[in-house]
Amino acid sequence: MADEVPQDSEENAIPGIDLSTPSIARAYDYMLGGKDNFAVDRALVDHIVSEMPGSPALAIDNRAVLIRAIREIVETTPVRQFLDLGSGLPSAENVHQVAQRYASESKVVYVDNDPIVLAHGRALLAENENTVVFQADLREPKSIYDSPDTRALIDFEKPVGIILSAILHHLNDDENPAELVQFWYDRVPSGSYFFVSHFRSADDPRSIQLQEVVQQSIGRGRWRTDEEILGLLPEGLTVLPPGLVPASQWRPTDEAEEVTPWGRLIGAVLAVKP
Ligand SMILES: C[S@@+](CC[C@H](N)C(=O)[O-])C[C@H]1O[C@@H](n2cnc3c(N)ncnc32)[C@H](O)[C@@H]1O
Repeated sequence: MADEVPQDSEENAIPGIDLSTPSIARAYDYMLGGKDNFAVDRALVDHIVSEMPGSPALAIDNRAVLIRAIREIVETTPVRQFLDLGSGLPSAENVHQVAQRYASESKVVYVDNDPIVLAHGRALLAENENTVVFQADLREPKSIYDSPDTRALIDFEKPVGIILSAILHHLNDDENPAELVQFWYDRVPSGSYFFVSHFRSADDPRSIQLQEVVQQSIGRGRWRTDEEILGLLPEGLTVLPPGLVPASQWRPTDEAEEVTPWGRLIGAVLAVKP
């Protein structure tokens, strides 16, 4: 899908997009091999990779587990509507494509605060009436809950898949990520699923190194302990097997390969509201 959009360059940048500071969405896109990024994003990622050569595993493992989790939810549960918060730029496979492949009636609402996501997302979704993307800050969940775009597709009387993939770690502790998850927990019915992937500290000094670089350049990025990550989930949720594990080890479809030291620094967990 990434092949269908022209490569971004400073010359054809969408007005309003900041080319002087790396953006999370664009740097992540570059780490995944995408084209929707600028020199400033590439410089950051190249720097990280030169210092920490195995670190792209975090992005690659994260995107792969997201796709597996969506497939798993659609194949094994009645959930047919998803709210993807901090959805990122379109990638090789996206949540709506996976969900609609296994259940064509699936509805997906993508939300991101980066204007580039909106621009590229709209191009991708132009002819998909069961999918929408809009720009909002997930720290203001009421605006997302009340948005006509959300309400047009999501029926909050029916189970919802709340997707928090590689996003809660971009919230600082004083931004109360747990309260944010609780907001959605309180508004979805029983049978709703919460998928969370998150940077893990894993008792590994590499996580401190990564956190320092990411904090310095982007200003946000927390490698939390497993206890802290699970502490972000509301008490009423039931964590499903295998629990919070390195993303590559979360229900792998192929025979699980040995997880790399870098791969241990991103975890994934799926939970259900009973
Ligand atoms: C690392 S990317 C993850 C993308 C996708 N969820 C995935 O897992 O592949 C994090 C995304 O969250 C977005 N983001 C960061 N802070 C946000 C906020 N406060 N509100 C909405 N989106 C945010 C970024 O723009 C970026 O696209």
